[in-house]
Amino acid sequence: MEGQKEVLADTPYGQVEVTTGSLDGQEVMFLSRHGRQHVLPPHAVNYRGNIWALRALGARKIIATAAVGSLSPSLLPGDLVLPDQFLDFTKKREGTFYQGGEGVLHVDMTEPYCPEIRNIILQSASELQLKVQAQGVYVCTEGPRFETPAEIRMFHQWGGDMVGMTGVPEVVLAREGGLCYASIALVTNMAAGIADHPLSHAEVAAMTKSLGKTLAALLGRTLKNLGMERNCSCARAAKEAGKF
Ligand code: HPA
Repeated sequence: MEGQKEVLADTPYGQVEVTTGSLDGQEVMFLSRHGRQHVLPPHAVNYRGNIWALRALGARKIIATAAVGSLSPSLLPGDLVLPDQFLDFTKKREGTFYQGGEGVLHVDMTEPYCPEIRNIILQSASELQLKVQAQGVYVCTEGPRFETPAEIRMFHQWGGDMVGMTGVPEVVLAREGGLCYASIALVTNMAAGIADHPLSHAEVAAMTKSLGKTLAALLGRTLKNLGMERNCSCARAAKEAGKF
C-alpha cells in the first residue's frame, strides 16, 4: 500500500487498529481480525468493533480471508474456495448490532456473501490462471479447540464443505452494516479424523504462510477490478432497520 497510515478507530465496541493507504490509486484498508500480534483467539475477536471501524472509515466492500479445514476429499490443502453459504455453530459471540432498544432486525441471509465481489474474485483468479473453487459451505465453530472427528462427520453429512472459526458473525455483521462482504477460504489442512495425524496451529500457520504470495496476487488483482460501484443488494438489509 502507498501512503500507509496506522489508524486507531474509536467504535462503540472499543478501539480498533486499521491500516489505511492506496493501491493503484484506489483507497484500501487492512485489518487483522486477530489483532496485529495475533493475540485474540477466534471467540475473542472484536467482530462488531472491526466491522464498525471499517464502515466508519469509509469502507463499503470487504474481502476477508479465512483458514479452513477441509471436510471433503475434493478440497485439498493449498486449495482456495469462495464460500457461498455458511452453517453457524458458534455459541457465545455477540452476533448483531441490534441488541434491543434500537429496533429489531432479522437480517436476510439468503445470499450471505456478496455475489458481485465473488464474481470479481473469480474473474480475477481466471485472469491470473489460478484455480479457485467457486462455491462451498463454510461451517463456523466456536473454537478455539479443533473439532472431534464425530463433529466433522456430522458437519459433512449436514452439507458442510469446510470448517473454520472466524467467518461468523463477521459476515452477518457486514450485512447488518450494509457492507458488501466476500471471503476467500484457504484450505490449510484436512479436518480432524480425515487428516491422518493430530492437528496443530503450526500446520495451519505454515500452510497459510505458503499461500501468502498467491493470495496477495489474487487480492491485488481483485482490488484492481473491483471499483466502488455497487450493483448488488447488500446495502438494502441495513436500510430496513435504519441504524446505518
Ligand atoms: N478446524 C477449524 N478451523 C480451522 C481448521 C480446522 O480444521 N483449519 C483452519 N482453521
